[in-house]
Amino acid sequence: MSPKPNTAPVFHDLAPELAQFAAEVHAGLAHCPKRIPPQFFYDAAGSALFERICELPEYYPTRCEVEILERHAGDIAARLGTETLLVEFGSGSDRKIRLLLPALAPRVYMPIDISKAHLKQAARQIARDFPNIAVHAVCADYGELRHLPHHPPGLAVTAFFPGSTIGNLEPLAARRFLHRIAGLVGPGGWLLIGVDLKKDRAILDAAYDDAAGVTAAFNSNLLRRMNRELDADFALARFRHRAFYNEHAGRIEMHLVSTCAQTVRVAGRTYAFGEGETIHTENSYKYGIEEFAQLARGAGFATREVWTDAQTMFSVHLLQVE
Ligand code: AVJ
Repeated sequence: MSPKPNTAPVFHDLAPELAQFAAEVHAGLAHCPKRIPPQFFYDAAGSALFERICELPEYYPTRCEVEILERHAGDIAARLGTETLLVEFGSGSDRKIRLLLPALAPRVYMPIDISKAHLKQAARQIARDFPNIAVHAVCADYGELRHLPHHPPGLAVTAFFPGSTIGNLEPLAARRFLHRIAGLVGPGGWLLIGVDLKKDRAILDAAYDDAAGVTAAFNSNLLRRMNRELDADFALARFRHRAFYNEHAGRIEMHLVSTCAQTVRVAGRTYAFGEGETIHTENSYKYGIEEFAQLARGAGFATREVWTDAQTMFSVHLLQVE
């Protein structure tokens, strides 16, 4: 069967250039302590590994958020109405939006993701399965996106930011990012956002250092990607995955630890590592419900509703620009 032309998604490519990846890596490896921002995890292999993380018994956030969205899709739709442009940040997997789309029925669905192949495939399937929704897929680093590439007049904008990806940002940067989303959705606009909650350290540690080693492979894939795309020579066996809950900072930290003194070449430059020296690859901040509401208030959002799963592991907040 040939695809109906009117259900083909529109694709907007604003993906960062390879040069940007190189520049960020050089800046991060020259920084003390060494660091690389987490958005670079998501090449095709990294996105596939993240999907596997979401299936792990230890990684509770996806299951808990899906439980919340399944249970409350009707309530959420009742609040938001249908004359909307629904923007999803860092959609990655289309599993969560599929729980919302039947009830929400927006006019336009705009997934924004940095992982191009992944995004295109998901957008095509959504367009096919929901022929009444115009799909505009945007390949971009949404942290950099300043305005929407498509916004038909008359449509209210609702943002959906699932997965607790907001946790990748330091609280101050998170507030700035929320403030920018507030500008994007405009007065009276909405943000539906998933936020992982503070909890027992053992649960958090296990969620980011699983027994099967999938999170370790996800972390090390960054080295593979630099080897391939930036002509680097990281020896994967000389770096190990380390993840732990930093209770004082309220965040999971992920690192790649150099197991010996070594030098590594990256795109023509040399970087020295001491034994035990790390590349800090990710923060994943955890919040209390009231703590997050406070952060949102500082960004111009009023909290209209908060849902949690049965075990209060994860929360979904419905925020509205005041
Ligand atoms: C996609 C950023 C929400 O922080 O839990 C999962 C990424 N890293 N396991 C998270 C991740 C390691 C994830 N976010």
